[in-house]
Amino acid sequence: MTLFDKDPRLLVRQAEPFNGGPGPDALLSSFVTPNELFFVRNHGGVPQVDPAAWRLTVDGLVDNPLTLSLADLRRFSRRAVGATLQCAGNRRTEMMAVSPIPNELPWGAEAISHAEWSGVPLREVLAAAGPKAGALHAAFLGLDETERHGHRFCFGGSIPLDKAFNPEVLLADTMNGAPLPPVHGAPLRVVVPGYIGARSVKWLSRITLQEGPSDNYFQAKAYRLFPAWMGPDNVEWEKGLMLGEGPVSSAICSPLEGDRLPAGAVTARGWAVAGGNRQVARVDVSTDGGKTWRTAELEGGERWSWAFWKTALDLYPGEHEILCRAFDTAAQTQPDHPSQVWNFKGYANNAWHRVRVVCG
Ligand code: MTE
Repeated sequence: MTLFDKDPRLLVRQAEPFNGGPGPDALLSSFVTPNELFFVRNHGGVPQVDPAAWRLTVDGLVDNPLTLSLADLRRFSRRAVGATLQCAGNRRTEMMAVSPIPNELPWGAEAISHAEWSGVPLREVLAAAGPKAGALHAAFLGLDETERHGHRFCFGGSIPLDKAFNPEVLLADTMNGAPLPPVHGAPLRVVVPGYIGARSVKWLSRITLQEGPSDNYFQAKAYRLFPAWMGPDNVEWEKGLMLGEGPVSSAICSPLEGDRLPAGAVTARGWAVAGGNRQVARVDVSTDGGKTWRTAELEGGERWSWAFWKTALDLYPGEHEILCRAFDTAAQTQPDHPSQVWNFKGYANNAWHRVRVVCG
């Protein structure tokens, strides 16, 4: 699949490098997002990779450094995992309405999708390399080059080694039963279920076991959560929280902001996700500003998977604001407004989602 095979229903947030995700109708049209609809988040161009020449290097604090071809990887056991990927910048536009966030993509609620991935569990490869005492993080490096602050480098990131040894973390070469498409990281990508999308490094070329997290820009500076008083001019990069597990979040995909609907029965529908190993436990919907809530019906919501939700509303003629919020299995829920979680990079907005409609 090339970029040109992407579905025209993708809302394009940037043409070059390509970044886009399925509009609200398309997003809810299938619980497992078809590959041509799956959102794309690229920081650089899609690298041309020759699968025959491609090698994966495993080095750092290991007893047996490895250089693996695709044929070598076929000798490891395989596993399939259903996992939702969500970009930490999803729903950034709601934060941008609170205060501007320059130079970041204006994602609505579409930087999220769900696929059935398969490949070699990362831990099989790590076990073959033999981690040394002192190895605490697995750092990943992709083949795509990008430029930040005058430096050219490849995209990278890391996860703690205890997560890396969980069986759901995959070195994936298939997506929904098809070979991994180039734009999604062919020939091999990491899939880290329950973590922000940035850690699922595409076009993987290297895994390094090390004592500390990756010093790659996208782990050491970007994809960190800064306090609201920090901005580009006074940021202290090391003070940001490194994002790993995502927060519980939800969004309304139907009806949409500004819709005009006949008064009476309206079905509200959307998605919800929980981070880490937590699951979506409940989704609430309110039409009176959050004074009272009704419980929505859920589909899905297993570990690492989004839930689709829906509920029937009875709306009288006039203006309405519909709100949704989710709870996860740790009884955590969402803040009521994006101003409570605003940060200058625009990450991890999980405020109640709101749409205003007119019935009549
Ligand atoms: N890996 C590489 N090599 N380069 C990237 O730009 N983007 C990351 C991650 N892995 C990225 C990457 C981010 S921020 C996200 S949200 C996911 O890939 C998106 O995966 P997708 O494009 O397959 O949806």
